[in-house]
Amino acid sequence: MTDTLTPVLSDNWDAERSWTLDSYADGGGYDALKTALGMEPGALIDLVKDSGLRGRGGAGFPTGMKWGFIPQDNPNPKYLVVNADESEPGTCKDIPLMMASPHTLVEGVIISAYAIRANHAFIYVRGEVLHVIRRLQRAVQEAYLAGHLGKDIHGSGYDLELVVHAGAGAYICGEETALLDSLEGRRGQPRLRPPFPAVAGLYASPTVINNVESIASVPSIVRNGASWFGSMGTEKSKGMTLYSLSGHVTRPGQYEAPLGITLRQLLDLAGGVREGHELKFWTPGGSSTPILTAEHLDVPLDYEGVGAAGSMLGTKALQVFDETTCVVRAVLRWTEFYKHESCGKCTPCREGTWWLVQTLARLEKGQGTEADLETLLDQCDNILGRSFCALGDGATSPITSSIQYFRDEYVAHFEHGGCPFDPAKSTLFA
Ligand code: NAI
Ligand code: SF4
Repeated sequence: MTDTLTPVLSDNWDAERSWTLDSYADGGGYDALKTALGMEPGALIDLVKDSGLRGRGGAGFPTGMKWGFIPQDNPNPKYLVVNADESEPGTCKDIPLMMASPHTLVEGVIISAYAIRANHAFIYVRGEVLHVIRRLQRAVQEAYLAGHLGKDIHGSGYDLELVVHAGAGAYICGEETALLDSLEGRRGQPRLRPPFPAVAGLYASPTVINNVESIASVPSIVRNGASWFGSMGTEKSKGMTLYSLSGHVTRPGQYEAPLGITLRQLLDLAGGVREGHELKFWTPGGSSTPILTAEHLDVPLDYEGVGAAGSMLGTKALQVFDETTCVVRAVLRWTEFYKHESCGKCTPCREGTWWLVQTLARLEKGQGTEADLETLLDQCDNILGRSFCALGDGATSPITSSIQYFRDEYVAHFEHGGCPFDPAKSTLFA
């Protein structure tokens, strides 16, 4: 891992009115677009492949490879869709990026759409964040007026229309195929894959769907080259990225650092766990990823390192919990979220998440038994690998991992007839 902490994505966030075109252009904004328009689209795809950029939405799929899947001999139009429906609990990196520097995303969209030969692009934003939608719309308007969007961009002969589309606030619409259904005007529910969107996506046409941070990383790669990007991070997880630290941290917020940094190093930057307390458990990438503990402070935060520790890097949403947190209560809260957001399409998730909440709530109240703990694991087993999309699998992750590391705490709830963290509810304090 390189030791550089020079920001790339967030380098202009502190500039005055950083969200305006003038401010962005002062720092060299849209120069990369001009460079890109002078290149062959295929050469741009190769550049992104060579950089090693991997999708920043959670799965870490190689971005250039995804672009390369677009069949150029398909006569249908090609589309680029930016997934800005950031909703995973604890995940809050794309919204600050779009608020502070919407033009980084807009420039990335134009370059990426040109690379895959798309003439229409969409930014699908979650509906609740009106302030973000307004800021993006303003940036898109500025880009049209400056000739960065529209017909014959900078005399290149390339045309691109970009639309900012507001979702209606359903977590499932962050799943790429449900997002496409929603964008087409239908109720958002996942589609069967394959075919993957690269082959049959929006309006059954070849479509690239990338996360905000992935697309926003593209202008810097065009500006500085593939080997510059590849010099940061680790061998298989390249580049700088945004980590969101929340919870019991002295200075929560967004920290841009190379892939492969550790939570211990990030906590040093963030002032540590809040004073007088110690780390109990944490999520590496939102609540759909198995929790980790203080034993894992030195795990490299890249796809391979977190995977080897039995979890997933996911969205890099590091939610930190100290010893005052009841793990059973935290897990119940997350599970209630998944039950609420289950789209209902498949039985294991629709029915299973309901049963998970019933069983967990009984355990949390101290009314459960050892048998309930086994039932809970059995319920997870019947959801994992049997659900139609990743939501069902993700709902089981915090449950199984918390039982792996904190089984005693579950047992303490039913042994003491209530939450051992709550003197009003438990016989532990009698
Ligand atoms: P995935 O691994 O199935 O796919 C990743 C991407 O690669 C997709 O765009 C897919 O179309 C493409 N892909 C994979 N195999 C392909 C093939 N053979 N041909 C063409 N394209 C292919 O992961 P998925 O289900 O799309 O996303 C799961 C991740 O989403 C989780 O890791 C989770 O961390 C993250 N997530 C993020 C949220 C957020 O708010 N950002 C919310 C919930 C989950
Ligand atoms: Fe819908 Fe859940 Fe099935 Fe996904 S796993 S399709 S969210 S019911």
